[in-house]
Amino acid sequence: MRKVIENKTVEEILNRQTIRIYKPEQITDEELDTLIACAIKAPSGRNSQPCTVRFIQNAEMLKQMNIDFKDKIGWDIPAYTRWDTDPFYHDSPTFAVIFAEGSSFMDAGLMTENICVAAKAIGLGTCIVASVAPLFEGETGSKWKKALNIPEEWTFLIGICIGYPDEKPEFKPRDESKFTVIK
Ligand SMILES: Cc1cc2nc3c(=O)[nH]c(=O)nc-3n(C[C@H](O)[C@H](O)[C@H](O)COP(=O)(O)O)c2cc1C
Repeated sequence: MRKVIENKTVEEILNRQTIRIYKPEQITDEELDTLIACAIKAPSGRNSQPCTVRFIQNAEMLKQMNIDFKDKIGWDIPAYTRWDTDPFYHDSPTFAVIFAEGSSFMDAGLMTENICVAAKAIGLGTCIVASVAPLFEGETGSKWKKALNIPEEWTFLIGICIGYPDEKPEFKPRDESKFTVIK
């Protein structure tokens, strides 16, 4: 076991975990504002701030996105880590999608972790979702980028489910052997 300094931020990072079952209630505007403030504060290369984020809270829109997604990849294809049939957004009341001109995956990743750790700290659950990417390619991509007011040529980088957790999963194991100190 590692000796870890007792600290609120460290505790939230160590206790964050992916949540895939959410309560149906929407998160509050104050909670959403807090997540947006933390997303904005994320570092980016040369402070280029390449990421544009849409926080989708329109349930009808999310439902239709899922239908288009499943129509595209197949209704019987396991697109998720745990379930084949549930929506890509795991029925979360808020689904954030990050886009950029080009492939700023590193910047999007850092912003994503800011959102996920801040969410944990204020009692929310999150699930990072890459598998929805095909929705934002080709014809369906054009349709949904237009609906979200995202330029056609921009790249979808990552999605994040956000909501009140309705499960307490086991922590996923980590491979400690990959981390060594050279003194
Ligand atoms: C880049 C990335 C993509 C992911 N995509 C999905 C996804 O499409 N669907 C999903 O249910 N979980 C997805 N996850 C969540 C991972 O499965 C999860 O983080 C991992 O199993 C470790 O579990 P933990 O977050 O609870 O520690 C993704 C996570 C990352 C970092």
